Amino acid sequence: MDIKHICCIGAGYVGGPTMAVIAQKCPHINVTVVDINEKRIAAWNDEDLSKLPVYEPGLDKVVEEARGRNLFFSTEVDKAIDAADMIFISVNTPTKTYGKGKGMAADLKYIELCARQIARVATSDKIVIEKSTLPVRTASAIKSILDNTGNGSEVKFQILSNPEFLAEGTAIEDLLDPDRVLIGGDTSTAEGKKAIQALASVYANWVPQKQILTTNVWSSELSKLTANAFLAQRVSSINSLSELCEKTEADVNEVAKAIGMDSRIGSKFLKASVGFGGSCFQKDILNLVYIAKTYGLNEVADYWEQVIIMNDHQKRRFAHNIISTLFNTVSGKKIAFLGWAFKKDTNDTRESAAIYVADELLNEQSKVAVYDPKVSEEQMYADLDYLNTRSSEENREGVSVFNNPYEACKDAHAIAVLTEWDEFKTYDWQKLYDQMQKPAFLFDGRGILDTDALEKIGFVCYKIGSGKNPEI
Ligand code: NAD
Ligand code: UDX
Repeated sequence: MDIKHICCIGAGYVGGPTMAVIAQKCPHINVTVVDINEKRIAAWNDEDLSKLPVYEPGLDKVVEEARGRNLFFSTEVDKAIDAADMIFISVNTPTKTYGKGKGMAADLKYIELCARQIARVATSDKIVIEKSTLPVRTASAIKSILDNTGNGSEVKFQILSNPEFLAEGTAIEDLLDPDRVLIGGDTSTAEGKKAIQALASVYANWVPQKQILTTNVWSSELSKLTANAFLAQRVSSINSLSELCEKTEADVNEVAKAIGMDSRIGSKFLKASVGFGGSCFQKDILNLVYIAKTYGLNEVADYWEQVIIMNDHQKRRFAHNIISTLFNTVSGKKIAFLGWAFKKDTNDTRESAAIYVADELLNEQSKVAVYDPKVSEEQMYADLDYLNTRSSEENREGVSVFNNPYEACKDAHAIAVLTEWDEFKTYDWQKLYDQMQKPAFLFDGRGILDTDALEKIGFVCYKIGSGKNPEI
């Protein structure tokens, strides 16, 4: 089957970059990315490439090459659905905030709306692809909607699962050179196999055949949740040991290096931190826990829930270390945050540890001053308001946002590094020190700074997982 028109519903962090790369690598396919968010679509169409709604290194170049040629961004959802042979559903699947499964299950209302819209609009056969991360067995619900809520025309649907493994900050690299592309489908029928083949041949334009893995649809759906659970588990594992290192004069970076050299363990994803963030890890593990519970698998659920419990502890522990080190009171004291994004090289702040650390400090009446090279002031306030801990006015009173790190740190009692942006390593730390209150405290929540050199300047340093931290 020759694919000529692709539609992607959802122009977010996944839909936008993924489709841009497909369009770049497949000039013979027309790719239309649609969204109900008009502002987002307008930003994707902005002449000024620095205004794209997603910041990802290299994304602007890819968009510049393909946009207007065979890559289009539009709010005309129905039109794009009907014109397409292949439809990717890449809408958000956040944790439910209401009703049954509140705080744990994935909210599938956007997915269901998409399925109903496709069924209502389609007048020709479609391959419908789950690009969003979904609970295992969602494909059967999508199939039931597509097959039973149609518009009366004899349209046939094939459903595939094709989860996305890109990480933010390296999305373009990950898309151009993926470890694997996973395609799950109905391997028991000729139509199912044909659909799998059609999607595989899109990727085959740039991904080597041996890296395109096909499975049954349930394995594919579950593999995505499993991959994120395993990755997050590694971070919680090393973070749990960071606390033990701090008590025993061991150094977590040395421990990580020593265990990472064992090829069975591997060296990646062993960087101790203030806690993992991002839109995926917490949401997907909670979803996994919820699914296990619905099958009555309580031990399985408890096992994975511990990854989240550990992460919450790590964020709180970091904030409490700041408070106790600053003589048990931060009331009225300026604490400067370097970084707000959940990791470097992205403007995404969803579930960022910085939000929770700020929240704890604001509870103690601290004055938080933030500098992040990519995150807007508006976004930071929105993140804090979303927690509902205090009023919007109180958040604005407690937090000030700077577009210059030296201004943010001026007169501060402490600097806390919350994101591992490379530029933080290049600052004139003597200058920062000179402008601060004394003693000048430094809390490196990412383990990126040379704290020995900073101590020579005069800083009192706390580094995640270092056995040399000051006695608290
Ligand atoms: P996002 O919130 O950035 O984007 C989703 C977009 O879908 C939004 O712009 C929203 O307006 C749009 N949308 C929702 N309902 C719609 C509808 N009915 N019609 C048209 N548009 C609609 O989300 P994201 O980060 O791109 O994530 C999308 C999915 O991919 C999620 O399931 C997520 O778990 C998964 N995922 C995300 C990442 C990541 O790094 N962000 C990585 C892998 C997988
Ligand atoms: C993750 C998965 O990596 C990706 O495959 C999936 O598609 C989406 O979810 P993402 O959340 O974008 O990607 O970033 P990732 O690099 O995984 O980092 C997640 C969080 O863990 C960040 O807050 C990061 O700082 C933290 N982290 C990561 C650590 O604290 N230590 C590490 O060693 C690695």
